[in-house]
Amino acid sequence: MGSKFKLLPWIHEVLSDIPFESVTDAFSGSGVVSYLFKSMRKQVFSNDALAFPSVLSTATIANNTTHLTENDLEELLGAKARGKSEEFIRQTFQGIFYTNEELVFLDDLWAGIRCMDAPMKQSIAIAAILRSAVKRQPRGLFTVAGDPERYKDGRRDLKLTLREHFIEQVGCYNSAVFSNGKRNTSTSGDVFDVLVGNDLVYMDPPYVPLADDNCYMKRYHFLEGLACYWQDKEIMTTSKVRKITKPFTPFAYRHTALDAFDRLFRKFADSTLVLSYSSNAYPDLGSLRKLMQRYKSSVDVFEKTHRYHFGNHEASKRNLVQEYLIIGTS
Ligand SMILES: C[S@@+](CC[C@H](N)C(=O)[O-])C[C@H]1O[C@@H](n2cnc3c(N)ncnc32)[C@H](O)[C@@H]1O
Repeated sequence: MGSKFKLLPWIHEVLSDIPFESVTDAFSGSGVVSYLFKSMRKQVFSNDALAFPSVLSTATIANNTTHLTENDLEELLGAKARGKSEEFIRQTFQGIFYTNEELVFLDDLWAGIRCMDAPMKQSIAIAAILRSAVKRQPRGLFTVAGDPERYKDGRRDLKLTLREHFIEQVGCYNSAVFSNGKRNTSTSGDVFDVLVGNDLVYMDPPYVPLADDNCYMKRYHFLEGLACYWQDKEIMTTSKVRKITKPFTPFAYRHTALDAFDRLFRKFADSTLVLSYSSNAYPDLGSLRKLMQRYKSSVDVFEKTHRYHFGNHEASKRNLVQEYLIIGTS
């Protein structure tokens, strides 16, 4: 949700004219914009408040050289046979998103991940299981309980087991690894704790939700837990799908968003500021432009029409919006 994947060619075109060597992707999400920057041979600092985006960018952005070999994969999948085991997932999610066999697979896989001593290899394994977990869900979301066997619509992604997906996804992540000759990093934390000092800061914060189902945690709580085996995560006791408590972010509320943008622009005022925004969001373009002008003498807006899909099949939920890149320089 909110991925800029389809807008990458446009973002690339607009940013190609701006001189910069180092860049902070302050709200990295899926990591696709960081990956664009990496491909542009920039030094990339990728950050997100949640754990699962930071695993994705460790595997693909910070990682310049490490692959998961056949041997690693064998070790990983053989952990159970060596007496290593975990049980949290099968105990917590029985009958919710996957078959019992698959829940056991996830526990066993995590037991294997704990045995690996290279964090970069761990990140590839976790990234691969995150993507597998999404593909094996009928709508790629974790809002409704029900195992995937119920859906018989012939889609390959629903026919493959989690284990089959995982092996395939390890191959995909391996083939995404490349070096751009720079030391790139990935962190997980609040944007207001991110170090300053890079030439350009790309900001794609969450929007004030127009509807309740716009919330990342509601849709992706299972991925957030799976990325860290629910370490330090609080599961809501009243939730049928075992949601994690939503972390507070000032960008998601009308009464705190404006002030949050002001603090954001002030924090990174010495860098070129690039804000991704869209016409269906609050605050509006005019307010954001004014705010950025407090810290930057030149503010330009680039615009593109874009159709968003909100993660389900209803045509009515498709939305045509104007996408903006608001760029503050000097
Ligand atoms: C719109 S998404 C970013 C999408 C990303 N550009 C992409 O193309 O996939 C916003 C991200 O901001 C993160 N986030 C929300 N509040 C944050 C905060 N205070 N500090 C850092 N990240 C935050 C969310 O976890 C989410 O991944």
